[in-house]
Amino acid sequence: MRQFQECTLVISAASKEQWPESDLPEIVLSGRSNVGKSSFINTMTNRKKLAYVGNTPGKTRLLNFFNLDGQLMFVDVPGYGYANISQKQLIQFGEMMEDYFSGRTQKKGLVMIVDARHRPSEDDLVMMEYARYYHIPVIVIATKIDKINNSQRMKNLTAIQVDLKLGENSIIPFSAETKEGLAEAWQAIDALIEGR
Ligand code: GTP
Ligand code: MG
Repeated sequence: MRQFQECTLVISAASKEQWPESDLPEIVLSGRSNVGKSSFINTMTNRKKLAYVGNTPGKTRLLNFFNLDGQLMFVDVPGYGYANISQKQLIQFGEMMEDYFSGRTQKKGLVMIVDARHRPSEDDLVMMEYARYYHIPVIVIATKIDKINNSQRMKNLTAIQVDLKLGENSIIPFSAETKEGLAEAWQAIDALIEGR
């Protein structure tokens, strides 16, 4: 598993002019607001508050670039999936993701974070379409797995897998509380970075 000395938020970029100049491999994290993206980042980096956890208004369309000890960059897409955003904001969000997916050469893959208790959202399905269109490999993390019992686990994971049109056993159950799935998530991310 990776060890990190220094992890920093490089920038919350509002437009592509602000994306950092870097040649580190990048992993983008998507997931609806409150699903546990920031908690995922903190768990994966063994930090308590690298990424802000909690009730952020999260309506602004930003990309947060986290430099993980000069090894790789996590790119967080905070707070999407608000039902009440305007058409204009929705278009801006789509343009931002298209700019990133079509133009960012450092990108190595997408980590899509879903709630193990729920079916994927409409935005998750759209994000999956973007990823498939741009041939970006995807890892799906079903987080908050600590909140469901063993009898629901298979049923829920299978439903998510079917909705996202994935192969069997391709979803990684994860918990920021128990740290279940930590090693598996890193293994999958490392494979993306190394192009395996
Ligand atoms: P936005 O930045 O608003 O998009 O939210 P986010 O996706 O970053 O979610 P965040 O990490 O802030 O977590 C939202 C809430 O879920 C917090 O109260 C976390 O403590 C809780 N949470 C996140 N991951 C887990 C988990 O694995 N298990 C449990 N039980 N709670 C979790
Ligand atoms: Mg967050």
